[in-house]
Amino acid sequence: MPATIVIGAQWGDEGKGKITDLLAERHNVIARYQGGNNAGHTIVRDGEEFKFHLIPSGILYPNKLCVIGNGVVIDPHILFGEIEALRERGVSVDNLRISANAHLIMPYHVLLDGVSEKSLGRFRIGTTGRGIGPCYVDKVARLGIRVQDVLDEKILRRKIHAALVEKNLLLDLYDIGALDPDQVTDELLSYRERFAPHIADTSLLINKALDDGRSVLFEGAQGTLLDIDFGTYPFVTSSNPIAGGACAGTGVGPTRINYVMGVAKAYTTRVGEGPFPTELDDEVGAAMCEVGHEYGTTTGRKRRCGWLDLVALKFACRVSGITHLAITKLDVLTGLPTIMVCTKYKVGRKVYDEFPLHQTEFHHARPVLKELPGWNEPVTKALQWAQLPQGARDYITFISEYTRTEVKLIAVGPGRDETIVMP
Ligand code: GDP
Ligand code: IMO
Ligand code: MG
Repeated sequence: MPATIVIGAQWGDEGKGKITDLLAERHNVIARYQGGNNAGHTIVRDGEEFKFHLIPSGILYPNKLCVIGNGVVIDPHILFGEIEALRERGVSVDNLRISANAHLIMPYHVLLDGVSEKSLGRFRIGTTGRGIGPCYVDKVARLGIRVQDVLDEKILRRKIHAALVEKNLLLDLYDIGALDPDQVTDELLSYRERFAPHIADTSLLINKALDDGRSVLFEGAQGTLLDIDFGTYPFVTSSNPIAGGACAGTGVGPTRINYVMGVAKAYTTRVGEGPFPTELDDEVGAAMCEVGHEYGTTTGRKRRCGWLDLVALKFACRVSGITHLAITKLDVLTGLPTIMVCTKYKVGRKVYDEFPLHQTEFHHARPVLKELPGWNEPVTKALQWAQLPQGARDYITFISEYTRTEVKLIAVGPGRDETIVMP
């Protein structure tokens, strides 16, 4: 597996952390390429739970190189908090390299994320409030502060002064009050010594690793339907979680990528606002939430739950060129007499078997559901395909045939070993 991208094929929280941890064993380098601490990736190893927000999910292996790529936005306070917490648990972060070109989430980004949501009122996005959107806005507006700026006090101070001219007008307008540019600069400079040993030309590192025959795993955050270009805009995040984002977000050419592993839950969840055609507002949705512990890893918010949306999954396979699927949380569906999957959408009298182009159509889309038989036998102890009940096997086969994509991994529990690897 020389170069593999792991991406979320739904609205995030598909179990990318678990799958990355699993695949990381066979890779030398693990790199995050977009998003920031809006992500929350969970790994359960030997019964111990780890939640990662910025640090790649490969860090638990002592000999792997972990990279935070240029496409990631970094809140230094969160980053060093996470590093400290890992060190306290005996995990070394010496192998972490951070792109000099990655952008920094500044205190004003977090404040502006909050006020922007507040002013949108009932049209709010339901962001994680971590300053992700405002940071990417500044990146594109060429007003951003990058990791490398921390190494040059003069430039840093000048850039923060320039950025705060406009930001302070906005903060005043929202009655938050202006920030002192020198104070903001000094606070950031306090991280300089801690940043220094990690800063690197990560594109060079990754490409050299590939040249030397070492393997690289790219860890996506969020998911396809939260992609700024292909997601359910405007209820999306501000980056490109799709596979293409891995190249731009790390400085690796698309010709070097061998595999794309799309991760999808056996059902669907979504946190925050926005359309969700297969959402269940009934006891089945409530059961999915309870059995699947569907509460956000980052914000603790309750995740909305619904049936598996195959139209959306097929779309994810298309826009990311997914070569293999990992289906997670199959165990959560155990005990349901029947399981529904969405195979088409209906908007008025029109039937869609592809993701609708127009936002309004998706907002009004109703799912066309196909009923499949459920299973009662527990699946968590299954180690092989043959040990899964017939209903579960038929369900997975249906997903694979519908999406025309090979299902390579099936997760039947949060633990590392609770995974079936298909031959
Ligand atoms: P990520 O953001 O895609 O990494 O996913 P999260 O970590 O936010 O959410 C996935 C949750 O499901 C975590 O609590 C995982 O420990 C858990 N999980 C992952 N795979 C499985 C599975 O197959 N079964 C069950 N029951 N839980 C799982
Ligand atoms: P992981 O990597 C699920 C959602 C937010 C909101 C929208 C925009 O754990 O899968 P943002 O703060 O990014 O501007 O919020 O995106 N969102 C996620 N939902 N999992 C995530 O990450 C998410 N990161 C952002 O809830 O709807
Ligand atoms: Mg998550």
